Amino acid sequence: MRMKTFVSGLSAIVFVGATLMLSAQQKPAATPAQKVTVYKTSSCGCCRLWVDHMKTNGFDVQAMDVSSADVRAVSKAAGLPEDGASCHTAKIGNYVVEGHVPASDIKRLLKEKPAIAGIAAPGMPMGSPGMEQGGAKEAYDVLAFTKDGKMTVYSKHK
Ligand code: CU
Ligand code: CU
Repeated sequence: MRMKTFVSGLSAIVFVGATLMLSAQQKPAATPAQKVTVYKTSSCGCCRLWVDHMKTNGFDVQAMDVSSADVRAVSKAAGLPEDGASCHTAKIGNYVVEGHVPASDIKRLLKEKPAIAGIAAPGMPMGSPGMEQGGAKEAYDVLAFTKDGKMTVYSKHK
């Protein structure tokens, strides 16, 4: 009888403990801002504007000034071919984001988590975030790329 009381007492404690743990997990935690590391050259003005675009969209951006030779190092190592290259490279989680990619594409990337190395906006498309020149806009594609250098269209922008 004594043993039974002990066991039911114990299970009550376990139950209360588990309930407490559950409610602790369910407490809505403020989601920390996604960290972004940007590699750019110190003289790049449009890079700075893209950094601002990312900050405005809630990203926690750390910008690193590197030599122009080193700007390509990160995306090259990630598999991005030369014709996908742009003026700056960003590391976001396990992905590499090259150039003036809109924050909306990056949010989609982080949500859908496709099996790719990253996305790129090759060159410097007029009208892309950080490349606003009055009202001038050119249509451009954001490309997905894989570690072995295959590029496919990720999104289209007009
Ligand atoms: Cu640029
Ligand atoms: Cu740039």
